[in-house]
Amino acid sequence: MDKEALLEDLIQNYRQTHKKSESLYQRSIQNQISGGSHNLRLFAPFPFYDDYCSGSTVTDIDGNTYVDFWQGHFANILGHNPPVVIKTLIDFFGKGQGLATGFPGFLQNELAEIILSRMHADKIRFTTSGTLASMYAIMLAKAYTQRDFLFKVGGGWHGAQPYALKGISVYDMGLNRIESAGLPAGIDTSIIMTKFNNVDDLDAKFSEFGKNAACLIVEPFIGAGGFIFGQPEYIQRARELCDLYGVVLIFDEVVSGFRFHAGPLQTLYGVIPDLTVLGKAIGGGMPVSALAGKEEIMALCGTDVKDIQKVKFEGGTFSAHPASMQAGISFLQYLISHEEEIYPRIGRLGERVRNQVEEIFRSHGFHVRCTGDGAPTAKNSSIIGVHFLHSSVEHITSPEETWNPEVSDFKLREKIFKLSMLEEGFNIFHGYGTIAVAHSDEEIEASLKAVDRIAVKWQKYI
Ligand SMILES: Cc1ncc(COP(=O)(O)O)c(C=O)c1O
Repeated sequence: MDKEALLEDLIQNYRQTHKKSESLYQRSIQNQISGGSHNLRLFAPFPFYDDYCSGSTVTDIDGNTYVDFWQGHFANILGHNPPVVIKTLIDFFGKGQGLATGFPGFLQNELAEIILSRMHADKIRFTTSGTLASMYAIMLAKAYTQRDFLFKVGGGWHGAQPYALKGISVYDMGLNRIESAGLPAGIDTSIIMTKFNNVDDLDAKFSEFGKNAACLIVEPFIGAGGFIFGQPEYIQRARELCDLYGVVLIFDEVVSGFRFHAGPLQTLYGVIPDLTVLGKAIGGGMPVSALAGKEEIMALCGTDVKDIQKVKFEGGTFSAHPASMQAGISFLQYLISHEEEIYPRIGRLGERVRNQVEEIFRSHGFHVRCTGDGAPTAKNSSIIGVHFLHSSVEHITSPEETWNPEVSDFKLREKIFKLSMLEEGFNIFHGYGTIAVAHSDEEIEASLKAVDRIAVKWQKYI
């Protein structure tokens, strides 16, 4: 395929239909680094700027409307600006309430009770981003065990915090490298990389470093690493090894929490970690994240810990912000009370898309595999990753395969397919993204027809 020519065509067309966005982008780069505050959102040649987001769609400042499968970094399970949350917030603000006050309020306890009722954890503390919550989780584990090393999974993304910036997406004969400057001295050697879904590797690493390791942090469903579910025997083995070596098991469920059912994914595996990081969906579109887990570990950030184990997870100005708590409560209550309608439907649509996308590309001579299928553990998976593979590979089972350029064609997915789908009226992420409740069956079918047209068009470039 002459990819360069295809990409050039797509970029030209995109420029034609996004003139206001291009000019706003030109202004933005005068003031903001690379034109914005989140690199992933700033795709090339320039992002479109949203004017109005509602349900399944986003309309940009040039008047283009897209069916959106990115859905607020996967937080928006119901779709954009769901009335159930918006209405509650309007009422709340209507009473002159909702902004930061600096007092504890009663709402955070209500949200705490809702979340804890859906999982096996003793205590919870809120913060404002998954990044912070995962950092505090590791600090607590280090303080609790009084150990220095930690195990991380290659391809795992836990936010940009110092303990997690190794082995994310830069493939260099594996996912093993520190990926940020400015980190504390010695951090490279204290983060021990392990391979997702690889029990032998986990056994070997625990046998070598287990006695000195504070924690293993792992996403039971790995998000940025390729939308891959942990195999049950791998998740189970992680628990056993942590017990054996006295290592704190941390599940990062920022993506998977409340995504596959109205609770964390761990309950579907029947494996209870020591600490759980939550984010995204629990805020109903507002900035809420949390750390939940065992009392004896969580207690180290409490008010009356005096010794060297005290962890400064003490809260920030906007921790448990009133409007955020209110949004999280309405959103989670809705997910819980409509669980039986929501998850089977978006799971069924997810399955249809995964199967059809593979089939469409296969029928036009492309080798594509979709990830995100959680069966039998999480049968209702609404997440779809699309991987354009070099033909020798049959399946994507690890982040190494996702990021190895000899296995997966990243440029085809993130640049060419992305712009091709935008041209068709669909905003995708990592090859497709996620189904929200707001997506209609018709929109899903239309997206599949678009994939078919794109595959036909691409054949001309072969
Ligand atoms: C699994 C996982 N953990 C942590 C984070 C960081 O969360 P936040 O972006 O809220 O800081 C993310 C963000 O995408 C994530 O996917």
